[in-house]
Amino acid sequence: MLISIPDVLTAEEVAQARALFETVEWVDGRVTAGHQSVKTKDNLQIPENHPVARQLGETILAALGKHPLFLSAALPLRVFPPLFNRYSGGQSFGTHVDNAIRQVTGTPHRIRTDLSATLFFAGPEEYDGGELCVEDAYGVKRVKLPPGHMVLYPATSLHHVTPVTRGARVCSFFWIQSMIRDDGQRSLLFDLDLAIQRLNSDHPNHPSAVQLTGVYHNLLRQWAEM
Ligand code: NI
Repeated sequence: MLISIPDVLTAEEVAQARALFETVEWVDGRVTAGHQSVKTKDNLQIPENHPVARQLGETILAALGKHPLFLSAALPLRVFPPLFNRYSGGQSFGTHVDNAIRQVTGTPHRIRTDLSATLFFAGPEEYDGGELCVEDAYGVKRVKLPPGHMVLYPATSLHHVTPVTRGARVCSFFWIQSMIRDDGQRSLLFDLDLAIQRLNSDHPNHPSAVQLTGVYHNLLRQWAEM
């Protein structure tokens, strides 16, 4: 399941972040690449423990923690501290799959990457190329979202970023360990949640809503890993 999460950050938060990006010395993005992706990765990043990365990471995590669509779609257990990257001057990231397990630097914590997330800071009109291309069973999905919007996709999928031939593409990227490891089960719960919400708004107090909510929670109870 690939899903766009609109308005994770406000226009003001995006503007503040972009001002902070100007103050940072960006480094070679290969510092966080795995053995296989290091060969195809060509971009810049903010160092993981840089105060700007930590501050903006907190802002993103706080926003996600109260975003109903994100919570319903991801059913998050742990979220990796957000990282930040920048592509310009023809930079790209070739086809790769994200590492399954990531250690949070400087801590004993590890997360299993069930979902990958990319949050956009530059508008689609500000750069050419820079599309995130995610392969799934139905083909390749090409993603380029407005500032403040985020895409969630299965970390199991092959993906790449096309060369940025004009302007700069600045994004945050990170991973989520979900309470529901399986993408198919997580998608079913998300669909059920959306259907219950629609039922509640179209037919308030319909008795089936309680029953369906029970089914949702009982499936979650069966499948959730904590
Ligand atoms: Ni990746």
